[in-house]
Amino acid sequence: MRLDFNNILANQIGREHGLSRSELNGFINQYSHIIKETDQERQNGKLPFLDLGYEDISCIEKIAKKQSRYFQDFVVLGIGGSALGTRTLHNALNPPFYNLLSSQQRKNHPRLFVLDNVDPEETAALFKLINPKKTLFNVISKSGETVETLAAFLSAIKILKKALGKDYKKNLIITTDPEKGFLRKFALTEGVVSFEVPDGVEGRDSVLSPVALLPAAFTGINIKGLLQGARAMDKRCTESTPQNNPAYMVALINFLLDTRKNKNIVVLMPYTNALKELCEWFKQLWAESLGKRYSLDGKEIFTGPTPLSSIGATDQHSLIQLYNEGPNNKLIIFIEIEKFLDSVKIPKLFKNEPNVDFLQGKSFNELMKAEKKGTEISLTQNHRPNYTIRLPYISEETMGGLIYFWELTTVYAGNLYNVDVFNQPGVEAGKKAAALLLGKR
Ligand code: PA5
Repeated sequence: MRLDFNNILANQIGREHGLSRSELNGFINQYSHIIKETDQERQNGKLPFLDLGYEDISCIEKIAKKQSRYFQDFVVLGIGGSALGTRTLHNALNPPFYNLLSSQQRKNHPRLFVLDNVDPEETAALFKLINPKKTLFNVISKSGETVETLAAFLSAIKILKKALGKDYKKNLIITTDPEKGFLRKFALTEGVVSFEVPDGVEGRDSVLSPVALLPAAFTGINIKGLLQGARAMDKRCTESTPQNNPAYMVALINFLLDTRKNKNIVVLMPYTNALKELCEWFKQLWAESLGKRYSLDGKEIFTGPTPLSSIGATDQHSLIQLYNEGPNNKLIIFIEIEKFLDSVKIPKLFKNEPNVDFLQGKSFNELMKAEKKGTEISLTQNHRPNYTIRLPYISEETMGGLIYFWELTTVYAGNLYNVDVFNQPGVEAGKKAAALLLGKR
């Protein structure tokens, strides 16, 4: 992964919207203490999700290897952080249109469905589509008490029991807190196979835990590679020179552009469809972690950048108009893939046809690069700050690294904004209110 910050600098976009190099260097030193402080928090056991890359995952690999070929479908029931990691990995690492491939093309791995809403039509449709006897349900909830997940869980149990009677447990795996919550109690009393969401690992930071690794392994993703990528990124981010720590630099630049240049909207814009779901995960990670009413010292601050996402090149025909000409209150973060693992050549079909001459003979890959560069140039010319994260290609290793990178960046950003990144009182309030409306005692 490489970072290119040129277009946040004043010499590219002007002093009003960009930072001068000397200003940036000053801030890099001023805030570099957060690297040590974060490391100290980690040593004190407060950031266990940063160590997930070092966990033993053989149990997950074993069960996936043994069971995946027996199931036609794998259905995740979970919401928020309990679902978005799976969506992210599936979108990035399984082939496009995975569920439409034949079983042989999927190497006998099950199709994957994620039910992360209580949408009656979608749920009913999925339950009609699958054969419960050949479906493995993975119910995922850290708390074990989330209303949407419990509703889906109860419905799944009913159709499993109807299809399989007492044997229904064979088609169920629960991933939840090691001790607390209704789902843990259920798994223990019923003897259902279960995995643990380790202590101190919240939903949005649980991608590299059984929460997303189990569904990933069942669909054939090399989960060891994910952890390997996370470990490599961990090493990179423990660099003592702040400029060489990508997570620190990204957290700092986002923070500075928000607080010094009023860019309080952050747009993540990958130029690939494979990272659409990563954007959803990123939005949740930033919104829940950084959107806070109170600072760590109890002051009312109502802070937090608003995370948005766009997909290149598609959104060049939609949101880019706003980004280029609307209010200059956004920071655009491009993700560029240096090498796509496949290519499509544009055929030469016409002679002397100016509308297509410049395209013919090129590849979609070249076109994608040019589209990104074009957008970058136009934003920069319009004084809109933007920077680029370059991935060499998408693989288990680079995805593991990218996920770890964003998780650590968020912790650094929390330190800079001076907020508790691990609570989500705004989410809990809504959860409680909905449960009360339904008559929960
Ligand atoms: O990131 C988070 O902590 C939340 O988004 C949770 O994942 C979400 O609220 C679901 O909670 P649970 O996993 O307890 O069902």
